[in-house]
Amino acid sequence: MVLETERLILRPWEEADAEECYKYAKDPQIGPIAGWPVHTSVENSRQVIRDFLMVPETYAIVLKETGLPIGSIGLHHNDLAEKDDEAELGYWLGVPYWGRGLVPEAARELLRHAFEELKLARIWCGYYEGNDKSKRVQEKLGFKYQWTTEDAPVPQMSETRKGHVNLMTREDWKILITLYEPSLEDLWFRQVMMADPETMSYNHAWGGTIPFPKEEWHDWYDFWIVNHENRRYYRYLKDNSGRFIGEIAYHYDSNRNLYVADVIVHSPYRGKGYGGTGLELLCSVAKKNGIKVLYDDIATDNPAITMFLNHGFIEEYRTSEIIMLKKEI
Ligand SMILES: CC(C)(COP(=O)(O)OP(=O)(O)OC[C@H]1O[C@@H](n2cnc3c(N)ncnc32)[C@H](O)[C@@H]1OP(=O)(O)O)[C@@H](O)C(=O)NCCC(=O)NCCS
Repeated sequence: MVLETERLILRPWEEADAEECYKYAKDPQIGPIAGWPVHTSVENSRQVIRDFLMVPETYAIVLKETGLPIGSIGLHHNDLAEKDDEAELGYWLGVPYWGRGLVPEAARELLRHAFEELKLARIWCGYYEGNDKSKRVQEKLGFKYQWTTEDAPVPQMSETRKGHVNLMTREDWKILITLYEPSLEDLWFRQVMMADPETMSYNHAWGGTIPFPKEEWHDWYDFWIVNHENRRYYRYLKDNSGRFIGEIAYHYDSNRNLYVADVIVHSPYRGKGYGGTGLELLCSVAKKNGIKVLYDDIATDNPAITMFLNHGFIEEYRTSEIIMLKKEI
């Protein structure tokens, strides 16, 4: 089986990869933190490839740009994932390639393969205490924390360590969404959404649908995406099949001296939990960008209030027309 992403090919390991494998796996920053010993020679890497990597559902992460393997990713059965419809996700990447989002990119495709083609129901993923980069990868992928064990086995190193366990179920995966920075041409979707009476019914007090003709796109794009001045943030929400399903945004309101959130899910995609997930994503981006409190003023009759309350927003005050919601993030 060969899988493909924008920048990567995921294909089975071969003995001929030993040299490239050794180049990265000899680095002590990779194996030990993940629970396996540093490779000691090309021959040792060849042995590991034969014994551990040339197995079903383990893939060499090959960079399209060079055609060479730079890491490994796979689905395994073990004591965490012993049932037939479960697997544990494991991965490592050569140090020179860290920080480019390559493992999350590979993992998203492998998760798609696991849930859609292998019909698995649950994917586990763990990391040992202190492995913050791997923890971050799992957070970004949408895994949910389950439990921590003081003495998780590290079989290949004959020891135990504190380990944290995360899980993604097929149900979680189905409603998983990612943030996407639209290109100028992608603004057709915003135009469609703004023109849809059902999507925009929440805005009825202010006129409902909003025209967003092509002539306005350039200025809008410049304001929200190009020259955001760290005061504005705008992304599309994209589902697993790459469809645009809505938008999230925040902006600084200088009159009131606060940051205002915005989440819109296109009407055909409502009622699936996308709004709440979008709101969580927005809060986590805002937090990362140094924002402490997010607000939203929402019409008193807007049913989306429940969604905000379910995700930690509280009512600050209300008028006859709006409720001011607030969350410390
Ligand atoms: C964990 C690992 C696979 C991450 O792969 P990656 O493709 O670099 O993942 P990302 O680019 O998404 O980076 C993840 C986080 O690492 C940190 N990071 C980013 N660039 C980095 C760099 N150049 N150097 C060190 N850390 C970096 C950041 O916190 C980043 O999160 P962010 O995107 O929110 O900023 C890689 O670090 C690795 O191989 N580690 C050793 C093996 C291992 O731990 N495997 C998992 C066992 S559970």
